[in-house]
Amino acid sequence: MANILCIGAGYVGGSTMPIVASHCPQHRFVIVDINEARIAAWQSDNLPIYEPGLDEIVKKTRGKNLFFSTDVDKHIAEADIIFVSVNTPTKTFGQGAGRAADLQYWEKTARQILENSTASKIVVEKSTLPVRTAEAMERILNSNGKGVHFDVLSNPEFLAEGTAVRDMENPDRVLIGGRETESGQKAVEALVEIYANWVPREKIITANLWSSELSKLVANAFLAQRISSINAISALCEKTEADVSEVARAIGLDNRIGKYFLRASVGFGGSCFKKDILNLVYLCENYGLHEVARYWEQVVTMNEYQEMRFAAQMVSSMFNTVAGKRLALFGAAFKANTNDTRESPALAVCRALLEERANIVITDPHALDNARYDLGDLAGRVTFEADPYIAAQDAHAIAVLTEWSQFTQLDYEKIYASMVKPAFVFDGRNLLDHAKLYEIGFNVYPIGRPALTHLKAE
Ligand code: NAD
Ligand code: UGA
Repeated sequence: MANILCIGAGYVGGSTMPIVASHCPQHRFVIVDINEARIAAWQSDNLPIYEPGLDEIVKKTRGKNLFFSTDVDKHIAEADIIFVSVNTPTKTFGQGAGRAADLQYWEKTARQILENSTASKIVVEKSTLPVRTAEAMERILNSNGKGVHFDVLSNPEFLAEGTAVRDMENPDRVLIGGRETESGQKAVEALVEIYANWVPREKIITANLWSSELSKLVANAFLAQRISSINAISALCEKTEADVSEVARAIGLDNRIGKYFLRASVGFGGSCFKKDILNLVYLCENYGLHEVARYWEQVVTMNEYQEMRFAAQMVSSMFNTVAGKRLALFGAAFKANTNDTRESPALAVCRALLEERANIVITDPHALDNARYDLGDLAGRVTFEADPYIAAQDAHAIAVLTEWSQFTQLDYEKIYASMVKPAFVFDGRNLLDHAKLYEIGFNVYPIGRPALTHLKAE
């Protein structure tokens, strides 16, 4: 039996470790965090994150071979393998502000591991980090006079929120980077053995440390780049009466391009895409690769353009003013099936519309608490409403900002009847049945498709 510790009980630590524990009953797992409320929530019936399928797995493993704790020091001392999944947000101060990764939580963890270790350990980077962070980690850890040796591995996480359980149960690949020394390779093998409990060996790939660290940033940059590419084309479609879904289908059937991540939208959100691309941009600049930096930066610029283009479209379509108008935002989460609102385009659109002095009401099946927290600086200026029918009542427009399937099940005739006329739908996810909405009487503005409007002069 090995004692396996995960430091950081956030989206990654909290959703991955219970699944690993469920497949490795022979090992003992502990997840620690400095956030007491978060740990208490993991120990309760009301988990701190909404992730389909996770509740059952946590309930199945918790108290058996999975434990949650705030006693970081004690569990570091006992651990053989330590996964580190603390947050690595974008730096907001000093050198690299707005781009570089803020590694303060990371470094603090490294020092804490060092202080509390009396025996050799494997330390696994699960957080997303700038390439060559493992070198700094090794320097801190192995600069001890205690004769304790640490092997640092990189094992980036590729799961997406909302599908975390499926992604962990059946990953496209597991990537493990380690040093090409005897001890480094032994550590790699130990981690391979853990994943091999449920992941086919051919899907567990190994690499050198730097390739592994860099692959994570590059994977996110490529995924986000596809969305920005199709979103750029959506703007052109709206000018030319081409339909972005038809274009995406046509190009996606080319095997070399592939069909995934070509859904045009109001923009990509989430805690990682923007952060990781900006980190990549910063790294490139640091190495003097200015053209490469500009190339990737444009992915983020295009995303911001798409969010603002959507808000501007709402204003211009509604007779160039939304001041004093009630607007119902359907969705706050950055995507469906999560309560996470970090970098959500819904909140960016909300802020832009507030600048125009609209009265905003937001509805979302799972993310209202987080939205309320994120928009705390606007207290009193936004209404949060769990019932979409009440949210839409007396509204001039609905803006669909998250692709919750619940929104497709609503009675839009009833909603239309309760709204101010002319009534508008701006579908930032191309989620709803636009022809039907148009038939009901709505003026419908999709992404990357011609608008369906009853208004005469536009
Ligand atoms: P998160 O903010 O949800 O969780 C991080 C947790 O670490 C927090 O609960 C925080 O309290 C805790 N923490 C910070 N310092 C600590 C310390 N010294 N000791 C103990 N706990 C500490 O972040 P997240 O979304 O889980 O992301 C974690 C990392 O994983 C990031 O680097 C992120 O880029 C990466 N990642 C995230 C996702 C995702 O879907 N969210 C996917 C892949 C990779
Ligand atoms: C993303 C990656 O998909 C994961 O592989 C990665 O591990 C993770 O980031 C991370 O490092 O945090 P996540 O952000 O959870 O996962 O969700 P995605 O499904 O990638 O969606 C990101 C955003 O892009 C969402 O706002 C989503 O609505 C949007 N999106 C996605 C589109 O607008 N169009 C698409 O075709 C796909």
